[in-house]
Amino acid sequence: MDPRYDVLTDAARLAREFVDGLAERHVGATAGVGELRERLARPLTDAGEDPRTVIAELAADVEPGLVASTGPRYFGFVVGGALPAAVAADWLTSAWDQNGGGAITSPGLAVVEAVAAGWVRELLGLPADCGVGFVTGCQMAHVTCLAAARHAVLADAGWNVEADGLQGAPPLRVVAGANAHITIARACRILGLGADTVRIVPADAQGRMLPVELAAALGEHDGPQIVCAQAGEVNSGAFDPLAEIVDLCRAHGAWCHVDGAFGLWAAASPARRHLLAGYEQADSWATDGHKWLNVPYDCGIALVADAARQRGAMASTADYIPANDSDVPWGVESTPEFSRRARAVPLYAALRALGRDGVRDLVDGCCAHAERIAARLATDEDVEILNDVVLNQVLVRFAGSDEVTDGVLDRVQRDGTCWASGSRWQGGATVMRISVSGWQTTAADADRSADAILAALRATTGR
Ligand SMILES: Cc1ncc(COP(=O)(O)O)c(C=O)c1O
Repeated sequence: MDPRYDVLTDAARLAREFVDGLAERHVGATAGVGELRERLARPLTDAGEDPRTVIAELAADVEPGLVASTGPRYFGFVVGGALPAAVAADWLTSAWDQNGGGAITSPGLAVVEAVAAGWVRELLGLPADCGVGFVTGCQMAHVTCLAAARHAVLADAGWNVEADGLQGAPPLRVVAGANAHITIARACRILGLGADTVRIVPADAQGRMLPVELAAALGEHDGPQIVCAQAGEVNSGAFDPLAEIVDLCRAHGAWCHVDGAFGLWAAASPARRHLLAGYEQADSWATDGHKWLNVPYDCGIALVADAARQRGAMASTADYIPANDSDVPWGVESTPEFSRRARAVPLYAALRALGRDGVRDLVDGCCAHAERIAARLATDEDVEILNDVVLNQVLVRFAGSDEVTDGVLDRVQRDGTCWASGSRWQGGATVMRISVSGWQTTAADADRSADAILAALRATTGR
């Protein structure tokens, strides 16, 4: 064995120590960025350092700044954990260090990605021939899908946006619900569609787009339109009424894009699939592997019903790159990237390790734990659950007060039993957001976390 690679064995041991300690470590970080900067900002040397020292000191220095977000009681944002098989495959992806642009640079990993794409289509119940691009996250999945949408609706209007740009193009309008995730506006910004010109459609109390308002909005514009619907609102987990939205898009010749960053995985659960009714008729879907599927960062997935539209927006080539004459798609044809990590390799491992039943159980288990936490919290008269807990998200307000809710959040985060983040629901009341999306969470973790939150509530109110 080449001793220059002993550092890989060190890293495996350090990683193992970290993951073995996840269940009982303080869930949040215990050091702030000031202290961490002091620890990590060592002088950069001229001569370089021994790799084993670098890795040992890096792990030790950063330790108090790590968050147990891949552990069983982290409920912040919607981050998900990292399945052991997926982490191991991720390490191999780094060690192999292949350029995942296509089969010309790595036939092996191009085929792994193609197989993973097929499994994703199957699990999500999407057309077997839809285009799949593995990108860094749902943000870039939106960019990819909306680029395909821009390509398609303008091509249908007789305009070649790839060649001629947007100046002078037929006016293209994007329509989105009031609760659309911020990454939709950002994708519009990046694509030259304008963030502030998105036509916002009002939503109901759960954050679901109102079809009657969408119908009115679509009727206002005589030209190409793209509608951005949502499966899984980032706070409440609510689903837009996708069947009605798709029908309206068809009636108005609009492209229908679905943001399903985490919610699209409800398709893998027979018990939850009804929430998505109609979704398979949409034109594009954006989701993540690194959230609910518990693949490590980064793994976003852009799916486009008509793969040719995706290639039309994304494919690029050069004289030094041979044409792809196989039926294995290349990443460079389906994503905005050129050189790229073959990031579907951990996804491949995660899906094989879980199997269809494992994906279903992951989704159903998280939803059951979310319901359990909500029910246990609701036993206290100072607790109000603001959303219908239809998925893995719980919105909690304490004593009807922003101040008390902020106080509880602060205590929970400092206590370290679990970790939840805050938000302002519908732009108003301060809430605690509890998002259950990790494979490690058990019913006992749900109870222990709810009890820690209730203890923080009592300490805050003194009741
Ligand atoms: C509904 C929704 N869409 C998009 C995103 C962005 O995903 P990513 O962070 O993978 O880019 C998120 C992130 O939480 C989300 O919840």
